[in-house]
Amino acid sequence: MLNKINIAVLVGGGGTNLQALLDAADRGEIPSGNISLVISGKEGAYALERAKKHNVPTATADRKWYEKQEDFEEAILSSLKENNIRLIVLAGFMWILSADFIEKSGCKIINVHPALIPSFCGKGFYGLKVHEAALEYGVKVSGATVHFVNEIPDGGQIIMQKAVDVLDDDTPETLQKRIMEQAEWKLLPAATQKVCEELIKES
Ligand code: GAR
Repeated sequence: MLNKINIAVLVGGGGTNLQALLDAADRGEIPSGNISLVISGKEGAYALERAKKHNVPTATADRKWYEKQEDFEEAILSSLKENNIRLIVLAGFMWILSADFIEKSGCKIINVHPALIPSFCGKGFYGLKVHEAALEYGVKVSGATVHFVNEIPDGGQIIMQKAVDVLDDDTPETLQKRIMEQAEWKLLPAATQKVCEELIKES
């Protein structure tokens, strides 16, 4: 039986969700996992700096470097294998991974999405676009979802969700910030620990 699951966090932007994971791990809230690797899909992403400050090894596979999706995914797969990764956490990783990648990785994959799935999700709904769509629709409640990743974008089994109020004077930016603070940064570490615990039980 394994006692800790090696986790790779895949990022692409500012990395505040990565920071929430690193801070939770420091507080002892992810006892069943070890954040062993951070992979960025974008060269120079600030998330990489956050990883380095925490002495977590990093790798970059910039989508722009590869003509084909397959080659991009192969680069990520080889970093995963080298580090014996069992759980992939997508935290602001904006590229859709193929069914072939999911199968070849041999890992469980989870993602944080900044809305209450099945609302405002799927292809094209990422980052601020999600909050723009929520405000345009006029919903009074939004939130965040952590779910397993399968071949359907944002279509895998839901692990945790948390609702957050939408205020009358919200902009996409203020709504994004509130959803991160009240939902994403809490849910993602909790869901990561839950999945690691389950993986240990299965091992
Ligand atoms: C987060 O709000 C995350 O939920 C979202 O991008 C932001 C990344 O911020 N992800 C998606 O929209 C995926 N569909 P971060 O880099 O500061 O964690």
